[in-house]
Amino acid sequence: MSVRKIGVLTSGGDAPGMNAAIHAVVKSAIARGIDVFGVYRGYSGLIRGDVRILKSRDVSDIIQRGGTILYSARCLELKTDEGVRKAKEVCDKNDIDGLIVIGGDGSFRGARVLSMAGISCVCLPGTIDNDISCTDYTIGYDTAINTAVTMIDRLCDTTASHDRCSVVEVMGRNAGYIALNAGISCSASYIVVPEHPFNKQDLFERIRFAMKRGKNHFIVMVAEGIGNVTELAREIEESTGVESRATILGHVQRGGSPTVRDRVAGARLGYFAVKLLSDGAKNRVLGLNKDEIVDFDITEALEMTKKFPEDLYNMASELSR
Ligand code: F6P
Repeated sequence: MSVRKIGVLTSGGDAPGMNAAIHAVVKSAIARGIDVFGVYRGYSGLIRGDVRILKSRDVSDIIQRGGTILYSARCLELKTDEGVRKAKEVCDKNDIDGLIVIGGDGSFRGARVLSMAGISCVCLPGTIDNDISCTDYTIGYDTAINTAVTMIDRLCDTTASHDRCSVVEVMGRNAGYIALNAGISCSASYIVVPEHPFNKQDLFERIRFAMKRGKNHFIVMVAEGIGNVTELAREIEESTGVESRATILGHVQRGGSPTVRDRVAGARLGYFAVKLLSDGAKNRVLGLNKDEIVDFDITEALEMTKKFPEDLYNMASELSR
């Protein structure tokens, strides 16, 4: 059966570059004679029937914009049979033959449920966290680390001017990719990631040791979820005598115009997703491994584990001494 109509949605936390993927999906689908429904606010919109055909002009001038023109949401209703039934009904009513889902692991789980209900789904990895196992790279990650580093560079100025220590919390959910690479990029004195046990005494000792050698300002990079960074700043001050402040970068990391890397990743993955769906694929996740596009069964993708770059972590640890 040839694919005539597909839907595209963004789900979970938004990520810069999602618009580039939507742009590519719409353009390449139209080129193949396929109609594309934009599904608004992720699976919630699908369940409510909040869908509308996207024309080429609907996606012009969006490639450079952060966020997602389709809006995003985290949807609990899809975890219920009733939610899945409603989503299927909307697809049937609009003759939607397949769905392109742009999001993270949680969104892939939703797509797997929909695939089992008979809706062909192809998923694209879109999250600033870069924490999806089946892919080296996720749309949004490059922009997010660059945003984080730009902010931390500013923080470094004031930290140095006051001989202080800044404890910076960055996003990443349960993964330390943003913390590690942003930490290396701003030459942090210490990087705390969830993939490694955190030894506070070691941190205090490192700061004291560096002070003895004349260093008087410090950036300590902490991935979110490690603990209370305000409390950690207080403990650093108490233990080392260096005046300390905590900064939580927060959602600013999710915004902004996507970098070239994220625009190109979004375009490539969006383009390939349409090709895959129109070739009859169902229940797939795309990835970019060694810069090549790869695809996996959703269950297989969700069962994979990602190896944290230990060599990079060890290098960062040495360089920060
Ligand atoms: O997954 C992206 C992300 O920004 C994580 O880094 C963070 O833990 C989470 O989303 C925050 O979610 P919310 O925007 O719902 O607070």
